[in-house]
Formats: sequence, C-alpha cells, structure tokens
Amino acid sequence: MGSFNIDSEKVTQIFARYEEEKLKRVKSEGMDQYVDIGKSEKFKHFANDPSRRQPIPFARMSRVGWQPRQSSRGFKPNDFVFIDSAWGFGGTWYWNRYPGLMCDVESACYMPLVEETGFIPKHRYSYGPELREYAERVAEKWQLRRGAVFGSTVKSTTWSDEKSEWETTITRRLPDSQEMTFKVRSDYFILASGILNRPKLARLDGIGTFQGHMFHTSRWDYAYTGGSPEDPAMPNLVGKKVAFIGTGATAVQAIPQLAKFASQLYVFQRTPSAISERGQRTVDPEDFKRNVQVGQGWQRSRRENMAMFLSNYPELPSENLVDDGWTHFPSFSGLVGGPRTEGLSHENARAYVEYLHQLDLPRQEGIRQNIKSTVKDQATAESLQPWYAGWCKRPCFHDEYLPTFNLPRVQLVDTAGKGISGFNERGVVFNGTFYDADVVILGTGFEPYSVGSPAFRASITVTGRGGLSMDDKWAQSPHTLHGVITRDFPNLMIPGFTQGPATVNVVHCMDVLARHAAHMITMARMETNAGEGDNLIIEPTARAEEDWALKIAGKAYGYAAISGCTPSYGNAEGSKVAKTPEQQLRMAKGSPWSSGIVDFTRMIEAWEAKGDLAELDIKVVRYNSSL
Ligand SMILES: Cc1cc2nc3c(=O)[nH]c(=O)nc-3n(C[C@H](O)[C@H](O)[C@H](O)COP(=O)(O)OP(=O)(O)OC[C@H]3O[C@@H](n4cnc5c(N)ncnc54)[C@H](O)[C@@H]3O)c2cc1C
Ligand SMILES: NC(=O)c1ccc[n+]([C@@H]2O[C@H](COP(=O)([O-])OP(=O)(O)OC[C@H]3O[C@@H](n4cnc5c(N)ncnc54)[C@H](OP(=O)(O)O)[C@@H]3O)[C@@H](O)[C@H]2O)c1
Repeated sequence: MGSFNIDSEKVTQIFARYEEEKLKRVKSEGMDQYVDIGKSEKFKHFANDPSRRQPIPFARMSRVGWQPRQSSRGFKPNDFVFIDSAWGFGGTWYWNRYPGLMCDVESACYMPLVEETGFIPKHRYSYGPELREYAERVAEKWQLRRGAVFGSTVKSTTWSDEKSEWETTITRRLPDSQEMTFKVRSDYFILASGILNRPKLARLDGIGTFQGHMFHTSRWDYAYTGGSPEDPAMPNLVGKKVAFIGTGATAVQAIPQLAKFASQLYVFQRTPSAISERGQRTVDPEDFKRNVQVGQGWQRSRRENMAMFLSNYPELPSENLVDDGWTHFPSFSGLVGGPRTEGLSHENARAYVEYLHQLDLPRQEGIRQNIKSTVKDQATAESLQPWYAGWCKRPCFHDEYLPTFNLPRVQLVDTAGKGISGFNERGVVFNGTFYDADVVILGTGFEPYSVGSPAFRASITVTGRGGLSMDDKWAQSPHTLHGVITRDFPNLMIPGFTQGPATVNVVHCMDVLARHAAHMITMARMETNAGEGDNLIIEPTARAEEDWALKIAGKAYGYAAISGCTPSYGNAEGSKVAKTPEQQLRMAKGSPWSSGIVDFTRMIEAWEAKGDLAELDIKVVRYNSSL
C-alpha cells in the first residue's frame, strides 16, 4: 500500500492531534445536547416560515425527480398529490434562504433533470434563488403544481390490507393560526421528506433569557437583517453586533456576507470546517452547449464520472469531466464508499483506513498550510485549522470565508470543542466572558439523517400491515430491498442512504432510487399482466430483505474509517457505538452500499435486466382510489 509522503514522526504527531481534538469535542450527552425545534413546544417558533410573508411557488428538488421518473412509466400528473409543510416547492432550497447560499456540487450534476429541461445554469455552482427558480421550471414542465398541497404537514399514514391503500392524515395551517386536519387515500406513498430538514438548537443555558433577536439559518429573517435572497445586502445590520453560532457549511457561506454589513461579528466555533478553493465562475452558454450537453444521457454520465473520482476507482475514466475539488478528493471514499472496499474484513480494514489516511494527509496538511498563509492573525489561523481526516465532516469549498477573518470587525471565538456556555439577556457567554449582541444567528444545523427510521426522520407515524409501526421495525433492524422498499409497508417508497447508494451529490442518490422504484413498478405490471384498471401491491419478500440487509452488513467494513472521526451530525455525535455484537450487526445493516453509487447503479440495473421478480411479493388488485 505504499507509505506516507510526510515523515513518520510528523504523521504520529498529526494522528495524536486528531485524537486530542476529537476528545475535546466528545460530549457525554450525545444527541441529547440538542433540541429538535419542530418537536419542542418552547422553541417551535424557531421553525416558523418567515418566507410565508412573501410566498413564492417553487418545486421540491428530488421530489421533482420522483414524479417525472414515475411519469415516464405511465403515471400521469393527476395521479400525484404532493404534501409539504412549506408554502411552496423547493425543499431545502425553499427553507434555506440565507445570504450566500449556494450548491456545493456543480449545477450540471446537481440540478435534477437538467438534461430533460435543457436548462443552462448561470453559475457553475448555483446560488439558492436559481435553484428555487429551476425547481419552479421543473414543476411547470411536469405539471406538478396541480397536485401540490402546501402549508400542510403529514402526521401519520396507515396501510389497509382490506382497502389496499394508504390513508394519510394531514394537518394544514390556516391563516388565523387555526389548523384543519384532513385525509388523503392513495395507492402508493413516497416518503420524500429529505435528509436535513429538521433544524436543531443546542440545549443552552439562558436561551430564553436573551432579549435581542434570534433565528436559525434555515429560517433567515430578512425582515430583521434587510435584503433578500436575491439581493443579500443587509443594510439593517449596519451598526449592529451579530453573534453567529456554528462554523459548518452554512456558516462558511453566510459569514462572508454578514461580515460585509455587521459592525461587529462574533463567530463562535466549536469545530472548524476544512476549507478548500471553490473557483466559482459564470457559465458561458455556448461553452455549456459545446462541452457539457454532449450526447444523450450526458447528465448521468457526468454524475457518474464525478462519482467515480470521488469513489477512488482503481481505473478512472480517461477524462475528469467535472475536475473540481470533489474530484481530486479520493480519500472521501472513506465516507461515500468505492470499489476498493471489496473484500474488506476484520483482518485488513485497519490497513485500508491507513491507506485512506495516506491519500488524505497531504490534502488536509495543504488546507492547514493555506489557512496559515491566508489568515493574518496567527492565533486565529491556528484556531481555524481542522484536525481530523477529510471524510469526517462535509468539506467546504469557499474563496471568501478565510479572508473574512482578516477584517477588524470579525472576531473568531474559539470554544475549542466545548461550544458556547449559554446566553444572558444581552448576548452570548463563553468561559465566563460575555459577548454583547443585538442578534444571535443559530447556524447549529439539523437533526442527523442516520438516526431512527425514515418515519421518525420525517416526524410521521407510519403504520404498515397488521399495525406494525415503521419505528418498531427499524428498532429491530433496518430491512429494505435496495434501500427503497420494505416489507409490510406495501407500495411505500423510501429514498435515503440506508441500504442504498451514497455520494456527495444527494440528488444523484435520489434519482437512482426514483428510477429504480419506477422500474420495479413497471416490471411488476408487465410480469403480472396488470391491466389499465388494475393496481398492484408490491413489497419485498422477507427472505429478500434479510439477504439484502446481510449483504449490506457484510460490506460495512468499507466504512471503517468513520469510526475514528470527530463527533458531528454525520456520525450522530459519535453516539453510534455498538455495545453488543447484536447492536454491531444492526448498525452494519443500516449502512449504505459501501462500493459507491456507480457500483450500486450497475448492480440494480443488472437486477432489473434479469427481470426476475422472485424477490418481490406482488399481488394484483382492482383499482381502488378516490383521492
Ligand atoms: C443548507 C443546505 C444546503 C445543502 N446543499 C447541498 C449541496 O450543495 N449539495 C447536495 O448534494 N446536497 C445539499 N444539501 C442536502 C439537500 O438536502 C439535498 O441535496 C436535497 O435538497 C434533498 O432533497 P429532498 O427533496 O429529498 O429533501 P428536501 O429538499 O429536504 O425536501 C424535503 C421536504 O419535505 C418536507 N417535509 C418533511 N417532513 C414533512 C412532513 N411530515 N409533512 C410535510 N412535509 C414534510 C419539508 O418541508 C421539505 O420541503 C443541502 C442541505 C442543506 C440543509
Ligand atoms: N451547499 C452547501 O455547501 C451546503 C451549505 C449548507 C449546508 N449544507 C449541508 O447541510 C449540512 C449541515 O450544515 P450546517 O452548517 O447547517 O450544520 P452543521 O454542519 O451541523 O453545523 C452546525 C454548527 O454548529 C455548531 N454548534 C452546534 N452546537 C454548538 C454550540 N453549543 N456551540 C457552538 N457551536 C455549536 C457545530 O459545531 P460542531 O462542528 O462541533 O458540531 C457546527 O459548527 C452540511 O453538512 C451539508 O451537508 C451544504
């Protein structure tokens, strides 16, 4: 496997420092250090939708991938009802409107169905407003709006074997703060509720005593700051002291914008992000047509090309089509998997992790050196250095974040892994020091996507056959076929990472699963000769999902590198430590497919081509729907 290019004494020091910094950050409370805003009576106002004052109809991103994928298999626009708590389309890009918001994946790869719409993005990495506008365009093209029910939250859904349908209970908020509850009956239920949609707060002393203004980044209050997502000048912040809590990917994008207007900006850091060059640029439409929109299926090829570099393929494509920071980051396969994980076991997993560090150390060292040369104050530069492996946190690509700390009105408050102590009525407290603030902005992130069942993550009570709750099924062990369909919950599709594909481009994962679900339904219709008026009940056999779970678990050594990571939402605060062999197996069964998304795609396509539906239980029923 070769050896490190950095001398071995230094490597030892670096690893010791990784461990030291990790231990500073470990918290015995685990996930209990946070409050899920949506579930807290006391803090639920933090989840209110400030954009409701200026409603803009936009389309959910990966949902907009689901409907067209199903449409291409014979479903019609009228067949779909979309329910969203948001008052418009956009999902992540509806809720998050903070200044500086941009996609970290190249637009040509991230935007769903961009080949089908022929859209040419303005920037290589699209900003939030363009992503929302694009979603609206997709909604228009596939006529999604007529089935949209906004401002409505799904509370529960229950399968009836007798009626062969899902009955879903929904609460809709009315203008006078009243709520109405209604039900929708459907043949299929798609749980496309997202992965990072439940904002969280740190449970901190005195949070209710602060007398100034406070909001979460995913509910940006432009009424307070001034400006808008389209014009993030924030004139109301001139003369104001701003405290920003957190230094994750959101902070990295928002802080440079805030620093332009706030008179004093305090940035409270617990763990620094790892920042590399972004290289944002405008897109030349002619160049895009000539070099990106090349041939049928170009978006898929481009996504897969990107994923192969990220997944550290032993034999890479001859051309690196995306050629950005992601595609020169092979050690990130520690998180997204790749074919080099094949055959890993207890015996060789440690050597594999060492190999990943060999790939990673020069990159992380480069990041640390760059901070030293960019940030003038060396104490601040030292604090900003990330001491963990590159795959441990979402890496950031930004050209303005680090230079922002050279501005005299910006102060980094390094809490050295501890986090702030709390609040008093006038500001933020850390280590006995008080920081006066007019406004506190909580960049404290979202509930992790790796905890609980898909139902739990969507805050929906999902009840399958015979009263089985999805939470109870998951508590035993996650079981699906290919991460998309689960027994005793017929006709319910779950896009997500559990037992499915993983890569940095989340929409790529959703698209692969949407196609696969559509394919399963089409194959099942053909296999059973289902007619126009017939409906199907599809679910995996018990044997098939157990086999799949064991296959996933058997490959889980591919994620061995994550175990040494500093705590974060990505590893549920490091709380996922197995205490018994049963827990270990359960956790392993909850992993994604560790050989990477391209390998996953090839594998399910081979399954589809075989056309053998023995792994599915399929029944034909008379059509029975009155939505
Ligand atoms: C700030 C931010 C930036 C991101 N940037 C990137 C990026 O650059 N690249 C990338 O690949 N990924 C990024 N992500 C991840 C992003 O979430 C996915 O890329 C993608 O948007 C997921 O789409 P989705 O439709 O599956 O889920 P979402 O976009 O999260 O949409 C889910 C929708 O479901 C609704 N919902 C959830 N539960 C219920 C319920 N019970 N009832 C009714 N409605 C409900 C929510 O209101 C939401 O509108 C980012 C995430 C965040 C938070
Ligand atoms: N397009 C993009 O580039 C983009 C932009 C934004 C978000 N995203 C996606 O969304 C995810 C979430 O990003 P996010 O930045 O919103 O959330 P996050 O990565 O979870 O960051 C939350 C931040 O708050 C800090 N924090 C929490 N409690 C604290 C406390 N008590 N005191 C001080 N600091 C505290 C965390 O510190 P620790 O690090 O120590 O936990 C962290 O820095 C990203 O990982 C990424 O996947 C992508």
